[in-house]
Amino acid sequence: MTKDKVLAILMRQKTYISGEEISRRIGVSRAAVNTAVKALRSEGYEIDSVTNKGYLFVSGPDLLSEGTVGALVGDERMDRVLVLDTTDSTNKLLREMAFHGAVQGQVVIANEQTMGRGRMGRSFFSPKDKGIYFSYLLKPDTAPKDAVTLTAWTAVSVVRAISKVSGFTPGIKWVNDLVSNGRKLCGILTEMSIESETGRIDSIIIGIGININNESSDFSDDIKDIATSIFLESGKKISRAELACAIIQEMDKLASSWPDGRDEYLEAYRKYDITSGRDVNIISGGNIRPAKAISINDDFSLKIQNSEGKTEDLSSGEVSLRII
Ligand code: BTN
Repeated sequence: MTKDKVLAILMRQKTYISGEEISRRIGVSRAAVNTAVKALRSEGYEIDSVTNKGYLFVSGPDLLSEGTVGALVGDERMDRVLVLDTTDSTNKLLREMAFHGAVQGQVVIANEQTMGRGRMGRSFFSPKDKGIYFSYLLKPDTAPKDAVTLTAWTAVSVVRAISKVSGFTPGIKWVNDLVSNGRKLCGILTEMSIESETGRIDSIIIGIGININNESSDFSDDIKDIATSIFLESGKKISRAELACAIIQEMDKLASSWPDGRDEYLEAYRKYDITSGRDVNIISGGNIRPAKAISINDDFSLKIQNSEGKTEDLSSGEVSLRII
């Protein structure tokens, strides 16, 4: 649709662009561009216009829909992107789609989850219109033990996407929480299906949940002291469609670079790492013990010094930790 194409150009453009340039880029008349701008304004988009300069996107109603994501991602990539208003869990739905033949790179995005899943059997708070609940399908032909680094790579990808769209760069708390000022704004849950005959990976679903435009009062009592959002940390309300597009692009890059591009992702992970050098509590199998986090090893495991002064390497999946 012309309207979606005009919106996509305006959303990407940071300076004024003339109606003539827009009509040239998408191959429609100036009148069609004017009509599209009028229609967008009636839907709540604020688009400034100045004589001899053209149009400037100011703000939008922050819709996360097939239309807004598709306008940015492009028709071809949208063949493997499903955007829903609500679902129980995007990871659960994508797993069912993988079972029925969905291919690598299939994405499911929801505006709300009614049963969002977190790590270690916890739930993930997924209120309507505030965040992005996003799942990505990988079908690598490898053994399960090789896939443990994917969660850390994803953390790097999401930091890059957030930084590109908002200008704000969160830190990574080992292994895969994105945090700012000690509070969490994004969690990642990687779930794997194994082929029983071969022991090889059938599919991997990487689930990403991000608090984006939440205000403090949007968080329930049990998480209000530990959760934050991109808005609360950066003071900016960003477009969720734009962030969804940036995550798709980063995840596509991850899918084509993994595992050979390890050095680049490791270097980035170490740059964003906020755990090394901190006192932590290690939580595993119901036990909690204090330790000092030392550094990120080459395989993304965490080197710690335990209370007896001995070093240990912790791998993801087995433990989680709390920074003291
Ligand atoms: C965690 O921090 O414990 C991981 C949270 C992962 C949440 C995301 S939201 C999209 C995807 N679907 C789910 O049900 N969970 C993941």
